[in-house]
Amino acid sequence: MIKVLVTVASKYGATRGIAEAIAEELTAEHLSVEVKLADEVKSLIGFDAVVLGSAIYAGSWLPEARTFVFKQHEALALMPIWAFSSGPLGDSPAPMDEAGRLIAPLSDLNVRDHQVFVGMLNMANLSIPERLVAKAVHAPQGDFRDWEEIRDWARTIARTLRAELEFDHA
Ligand SMILES: Cc1cc2nc3c(=O)[nH]c(=O)nc-3n(C[C@H](O)[C@H](O)[C@H](O)COP(=O)(O)O)c2cc1C
Repeated sequence: MIKVLVTVASKYGATRGIAEAIAEELTAEHLSVEVKLADEVKSLIGFDAVVLGSAIYAGSWLPEARTFVFKQHEALALMPIWAFSSGPLGDSPAPMDEAGRLIAPLSDLNVRDHQVFVGMLNMANLSIPERLVAKAVHAPQGDFRDWEEIRDWARTIARTLRAELEFDHA
C-alpha cells in the first residue's frame, strides 16, 4: 500500500485541522496515512510521499516546519512532497506572490505543488501581543477554511500517487 506522511506545524489548530481533512481524504482514496506534528517526526523510513503544511505567522512558516525540512532533508530529497500553508483570512485572496518565499526551505526538493489555504483566527486564543497585531491589521475573525478546496486538493494528490506508484506496490 502507498504510505503517506501528513505532517503539520500549527499554533492554534487551524492548520492541523486542514492536515486532518487531507489525511481523511487520502485514506478514503485507499492510501495508508499517518498524521504527525512536524516536531514529532522521527524518521521518514517507509513513507512514499510527504504532505507538509504550516500556518503562516509574520510572513513565514512556523519554525517547527522549517526545522523538520532541515532535519529530514536527506530523506525528503528521495520523495515527492506536497506543501500547503494556512494564513490568509476572510475573503482576502491567497497571496500567491508570497507563496514561493514561504516554501523557500523546500527549494531544492521535489515539491509537486504548494497551495495557500484560507485559515482561521479566534482572537480569544491569542497572546496579548498577537492580539495587538491582529487588531492593528484588522484581521477578520472566524473560520474561513474551505473544506471542499482542501479535500479536492487531497484527492488530486491521491490520484497522482496512485498513477505513479500503484504498480510498485502491487
Ligand atoms: C500574530 C499573527 C500573525 C499572522 N501573520 C500572518 C501572515 O503574515 N500571513 C498570513 O497569511 N496569515 C497570518 N496570520 C493568520 C494565521 O496564519 C491564520 O490564522 C492561520 O490559519 C492560523 O493557523 P494555526 O491555527 O494552525 O496556527 C497571522 C495570525 C496571527 C495571530
